[in-house]
Amino acid sequence: MFRLETLSVDPPLILAPMAGITDHLYRLMLRRIGGVGLVTMEFISSEAITRGNARQLAKMFFSDEERPLSIQIYGSDPERMSAAAEIVAELAPDACDINMGCPANKVLKGCAGAALMGDLPLARRIVRDVKRRLSIPLTVKFRLGLDESRKNFLDLGKICEDEGAAAVALHARTARQMYTGRAVRDEIAQLKSHLAIPVIGNGDVETPGDVATMLRETGCDGVMIGRATMKNPWIFRQAADLLAGRAPREATDVERRDLILWHFGQIEATARDPREALHKLRTMTGWYTHGLGNGRALKVKISELATPAAFREAVVEFFAAESAESQAPETGPVSGIAFPESESGAGPEFRKPDPGPQMPVLL
Ligand SMILES: Cc1cc2nc3c(=O)[nH]c(=O)nc-3n(C[C@H](O)[C@H](O)[C@H](O)COP(=O)(O)O)c2cc1C
Repeated sequence: MFRLETLSVDPPLILAPMAGITDHLYRLMLRRIGGVGLVTMEFISSEAITRGNARQLAKMFFSDEERPLSIQIYGSDPERMSAAAEIVAELAPDACDINMGCPANKVLKGCAGAALMGDLPLARRIVRDVKRRLSIPLTVKFRLGLDESRKNFLDLGKICEDEGAAAVALHARTARQMYTGRAVRDEIAQLKSHLAIPVIGNGDVETPGDVATMLRETGCDGVMIGRATMKNPWIFRQAADLLAGRAPREATDVERRDLILWHFGQIEATARDPREALHKLRTMTGWYTHGLGNGRALKVKISELATPAAFREAVVEFFAAESAESQAPETGPVSGIAFPESESGAGPEFRKPDPGPQMPVLL
């Protein structure tokens, strides 16, 4: 456990913000599986927030069940960023994060994201001005620097601390590296010993064991996980078990099947149109088939299907065949725990998801 001011992050495990991935349903799903101490939304542009862009504002929808939750904003204009922070504060998330690590050209061109690591005085003004408008904890997420020759994460970390950030998160790569190479744990350790505020380590955590190693080797206060959650949405629960001295357990096939069907049902019910639903379903199946013995066959099969109903059928058939093959009895829900209906919420474009198939076996 660690604290962001008065907020406890327990277990000290954080869902990384991922554009296009960590939406309401995704966060809810991970929260229901358990083991995650704080979830983060994908980044939202301060321009879009302050100009009232309905589509972007809708992305800020969240339900109480997701809490504790952090909203991440980005931008390069201190005034706009602080105006956006004020709007964020009205939504009353548990924390707000500033993105100073995004290496995407589109964001860098607007001098936001990681570009702020190339202008530390501007980064300082942004942290200071945003902090002034918030009564919830403020965190800042950044990288090692723009490139190998300009690593200034220690300086930026100190700026964040001086300006009142409650914690910082370090993705231990440079912006130039994008996602290549490996994240460097040494540098997370350096940042931890340089600052008094909590440091969250991020980058290339792929297994529950990596979480324990990251905490041990760097002394960081919390571990943020991004991409590995797509291949293994149970990773937080498994890591929390490991940290608590319990043996982590793999998800069963029944859990996998029910999770896929639940997520499919929710996407179908909330997508703006069938094309969007199909696109999301195809993306997701790639994630969830990972680690399944015959997962590739399911992935290939699903890529040819044209309707969400056909997707569902294929998943049910696939798992029935798997279970027959392994001679395992065809199990229904493993536990009687209900997977409750999502709360309705305030998002302007958000349609309340149909609960879809009951999703009882996540916990
Ligand atoms: C598809 C995708 C979208 C991302 N979007 C964001 C984002 O919106 N904000 C952000 O700070 N980082 C974003 N990231 C970076 C992640 O938060 C994280 O720092 C990075 O993936 C390294 O962690 P991992 O190795 O655990 O995935 C994104 C990463 C991916 C793969």
